[in-house]
Amino acid sequence: MKVKYIDFQKHGDYRGQLIALEENRNIPFTIRRVYFMYDTKEYVHRGLHAHKKLKQVLFCVSGACTIKLDNGHETMDIRLEKPFQGIFIGPGIWREMYDFTEDAVLMVLASEFYDESDYIRDYDTFLKNCL
Ligand code: TYD
Repeated sequence: MKVKYIDFQKHGDYRGQLIALEENRNIPFTIRRVYFMYDTKEYVHRGLHAHKKLKQVLFCVSGACTIKLDNGHETMDIRLEKPFQGIFIGPGIWREMYDFTEDAVLMVLASEFYDESDYIRDYDTFLKNCL
């Protein structure tokens, strides 16, 4: 699967923790966009799409949520519950985010500007493209 779980290096000392994110270093692409979701309702499932070209790294910088990943052949669920945990998601992966805690802030670093034409929002179309 074009997915990688990454434990980012923590620069911790007696004051607390600090995480540094650098494009084309520990983030494997040029960062064109950052967005985040918060105040997500408990019962909500977000995402439910794949991308044609976009690469992303997802972090839950506060709280926790679960990411379901699907390459058309297999699925996996990853619980993000620490700010140093990231998931790299390459193109062609269907994703769904759910089980958000009340304090969850899901931050996404993305390799491209927002472009609706890069989305595959229909699951059957996604599956056909996986063949
Ligand atoms: P949406 O695609 O529904 O979020 P998700 O599927 O990841 O849960 O996006 C919600 C709205 O925000 C939609 O009107 C498009 C807009 N949006 C932007 O304007 N820029 C962005 O970078 C993103 C991710 C969404």
